[in-house]
This record gives sequence, C-alpha cells and structure tokens, in this order.
Amino acid sequence: MSEYTVEFVGTGEKIQVSDKQTILKACIEEGIAQEYSCRVGMCLACSAKIVSGEVTQPAARGLTEEEAEEYALTCMARPKSDLKLDRGKYPPSIETETEATRDAAAADDD
Ligand code: FES
Repeated sequence: MSEYTVEFVGTGEKIQVSDKQTILKACIEEGIAQEYSCRVGMCLACSAKIVSGEVTQPAARGLTEEEAEEYALTCMARPKSDLKLDRGKYPPSIETETEATRDAAAADDD
C-alpha cells in the first residue's frame, strides 16, 4: 500500500490518501468539504480537475475516456501519485447536458 499527498488548489488543503482509498472517503474522514451526491461515479457532483498527478478510476462511468484523463470523480478515484486537484470543475459533458436542458426549457416556453 502506498500513500500520496492530495492538495486542493485554492484552499491549499492537503491530505494523505492511500492508493486503496477513494479521495472522497479520505476527505470525509479528514473533515474536508467535498461536494458529492451519488457516490457511484454517475452524477459528476464530486468532480475535480486534475492539475497534476495521476489517478485510477475505472468505475467513473459518468466520464468519457478523454474526460477521465483531465478530471477525477473523487468518489471513485484513488491516487496513483501525489496530486493537485481543483474542486468544483466539471467536465464538458456536464456543460453540454446543461445547455441541452436549457434549450429544451426554452422550447417549452414557446
Ligand atoms: S458523487 Fe456522483 S459521481 Fe461522484
């Protein structure tokens, strides 16, 4: 088992996370505020942009393959190296969904 430092840019918070533990679980145990909802890799609420480092997250089903290289779903992601994460940054697919929802709502108003 290896342990890595996960730093959150903006707040500068740092925690130690085992490669056997999800980043979200470590945040909860350390009392760090990390947004989440489904905890099964689908809703993207726990998303963070990977500023540096690598994660393993084979069960992050809500992300495309390309997004999984740039974003971590902290409920699924385990560190593979020291990490810097920017919380509250969402992958393009969630923004596309928002635009589609907004367009549908606008069409309903007509
Ligand atoms: S909490 Fe839903 S994807 Fe992580």
